[in-house]
Amino acid sequence: MSAGLDGKIALVTGASRGIGRAVSLALHEVGVQVVASARPSEDLVSLASELGDGGIIWEGDATADELLSRISGMDSLDILINNAGGNRPEPFVDVSDENLDFILNLNVRTTFRIARESVKRMKLGGSIVNITSQMGHVGSPNRTVYCMTKHAIEGLTRAMAVELAPEGIRVNSVAPTFIETPLTKPMLADPEFEAFVKRMIPMGKTGQPEDVAAAVVYLCSDGAGMVTGHSLLVDGGWTAQ
Ligand SMILES: NC(=O)c1ccc[n+]([C@@H]2O[C@H](COP(=O)([O-])OP(=O)(O)OC[C@H]3O[C@@H](n4cnc5c(N)ncnc54)[C@H](OP(=O)(O)O)[C@@H]3O)[C@@H](O)[C@H]2O)c1
Repeated sequence: MSAGLDGKIALVTGASRGIGRAVSLALHEVGVQVVASARPSEDLVSLASELGDGGIIWEGDATADELLSRISGMDSLDILINNAGGNRPEPFVDVSDENLDFILNLNVRTTFRIARESVKRMKLGGSIVNITSQMGHVGSPNRTVYCMTKHAIEGLTRAMAVELAPEGIRVNSVAPTFIETPLTKPMLADPEFEAFVKRMIPMGKTGQPEDVAAAVVYLCSDGAGMVTGHSLLVDGGWTAQ
């Protein structure tokens, strides 16, 4: 069965590295025109050459108004992958106001604002995938702010799905476990933490960005035409226990 995505236009935030990059390349492979957004970097330059004519690069900060203006200037948008996000793990009682505001702004406020602007450009058949986390379903030490933000986006996903269903716009999330990306590299470099993570994942291994990308492509495809308000866990069984 064809994915039915050939010729569609997708905006991917946080496209330069990790999960966003894998998602951009996977969508490109099934014929999607990818608008790849991130701050300027060598990674973004190399992504541009991998996407070639099938890609448009938007350099800029996802938290800034400029990105919203660019979205509002689009003729149309079929797919939004709301991926830009981050974490600063620390014990609950030590969380600084600066880190609290940074993570809330990037993971919640920015995700919300980009989705709100994107929906105005979408027509019947539009699809939004928010990249949340297994931490949007469970709790874990040193991750109070991160878990709070990802639970928030799981709620946003469901509420948007219900409100936008009559307009033919589907809204889902993909909720990964620990995936090997630049974000988790320093965390998994600690052998004790890596052992904890692998103990918690029944499949006994961390995930790859391509595992997440495959789930995203499915949710955007015709095959998921009746799927909305769903959170697709790509977690090797972490949350099934
Ligand atoms: N890796 C995991 O284990 C894991 C698990 C569950 C969920 N997630 C979620 O998946 C998403 C991607 O994670 P990742 O591991 O791929 O992270 P990553 O390796 O740190 O990559 C993050 C991407 O987002 C971009 N980005 C960050 N802040 C930005 C900003 N203010 N403006 C524009 N772009 C920004 C980064 O590019 P620049 O910094 O160059 O702009 C980069 O392209 C996040 O929402 C994360 O919470 C990750």
